[in-house]
Amino acid sequence: MVSLRLPHFLFSFFFLSLAMTSGRVLGSHMAVKSAYYPDWASGLPPLSIDTSLFTHIYYAFVQPDGVTFELDVSDSLATILSNFSSTLHSKNPPVKTIISIGGAASSLFSNMASSASTRKNFILSTLDIARKLGFDGLDLDWEFPRSPAEMDNFASLLEEWRAEVQKEAQETNRSPLVLTAAVYFSVDFFLSNIYRIYPVESMSKSLDLVNAMCYNYHGSWDTSATGAQAALFDPNSNISTSYGLNSWVKAGLQQSKLVMGLPLYGRTWTLKDPKVNSVGAPAVSAGPGNGVLTYNQILNYNREHNATVKFDITTVSAYSYGGTAWIGYDDTRSTTLKVDYAQALGLRGYLFWALSYDHEWRIATEASRAWLL
Ligand SMILES: *[C@@H]1O[C@H](CO)[C@@H](O)[C@H](O)[C@H]1NC(C)=O
Ligand SMILES: *[C@@H]1O[C@H](CO)[C@@H](O)[C@H](O)[C@H]1NC(C)=O
Ligand SMILES: *[C@@H]1O[C@H](CO)[C@@H](O)[C@H](O)[C@H]1NC(C)=O
Repeated sequence: MVSLRLPHFLFSFFFLSLAMTSGRVLGSHMAVKSAYYPDWASGLPPLSIDTSLFTHIYYAFVQPDGVTFELDVSDSLATILSNFSSTLHSKNPPVKTIISIGGAASSLFSNMASSASTRKNFILSTLDIARKLGFDGLDLDWEFPRSPAEMDNFASLLEEWRAEVQKEAQETNRSPLVLTAAVYFSVDFFLSNIYRIYPVESMSKSLDLVNAMCYNYHGSWDTSATGAQAALFDPNSNISTSYGLNSWVKAGLQQSKLVMGLPLYGRTWTLKDPKVNSVGAPAVSAGPGNGVLTYNQILNYNREHNATVKFDITTVSAYSYGGTAWIGYDDTRSTTLKVDYAQALGLRGYLFWALSYDHEWRIATEASRAWLL
């Protein structure tokens, strides 16, 4: 136990010293402790959310119509959204509610963002819906702009969106809606062999929060070896949370806008040899749950199968195995270390995917405690 606790202590001490000596004022912005609430997998009514653990809850997802690009909100969805927001506002303490716009094909966002008139239709409808249904903000999950030209359109969209948000706030004498976006874990990347870099300057000017999706680094798309899907560190590659978050900071995004995404789910493999079972061990296929299990399911699986649970200090992740089944995931310890890291880097907070995947608020509770005020 001692050997497992020691790194946490060293981490906190080292990173907090770093943050203090570099002159950053800790706590000058209110921490963001947030989570997505996917409506298809929520598993819990809004009233049962422990709001003492969060500052923002994102309702996922609402999609734009493929022709008009206005948000597609039926009467029944409007009732659900309105209830969601008013319920969370009336809880003690209240949390901010955000409509997350996503879950649609990348091409739909690309079409929407491709001209000033389609962008405007989209933007005005998002403001209208957010206000009508009582939300505090809007989030865009465009996964992902596919080319440098689409990155330019993304920049135009954000700048025009910000302008309309400010205008609406002034005209109605209300606080501006919060504007956020979910982005790739690193600021630049190759996907499908096309190099892309996010428009950091436009994002800095236009967004309140930038939510980096620091997960999905390894998964069932590569069954040759097990992996830490949300490794904080990776000595062998740049596919890690520390690399990604630092890439955003180096590119000039203010740390006070950057939020670290955290997974409340793990990824699974079937081992080639049950005796070779560390992170990176040879594998042959996806494992239990067809490659994905929620944290809650992982705890059940480990218990029911008497799985061996280990912690990998190198990547800062937990894993378990039993027979040929192998599961890599974040537990309370890895999450706490990541929260320490985020805070030491001067980041604004964290965002879980997804709220209902936790077990009795266990990880959300430890994360909230770990974020020192
Ligand atoms: C939200 O819906 C629930 C369940 O249908 C209901 O009990 C509650 O009164 C509604 N709350 C609001 C604020 O409309
Ligand atoms: C990681 O990124 C740096 C630049 O940020 C680059 O110099 C280096 O070659 C990359 N390493 C790998 C393994 O891709
Ligand atoms: C569970 O696994 C441990 C070793 O990891 C073993 O000692 C124990 O007997 C197992 N219990 C059951 C019920 O299989």
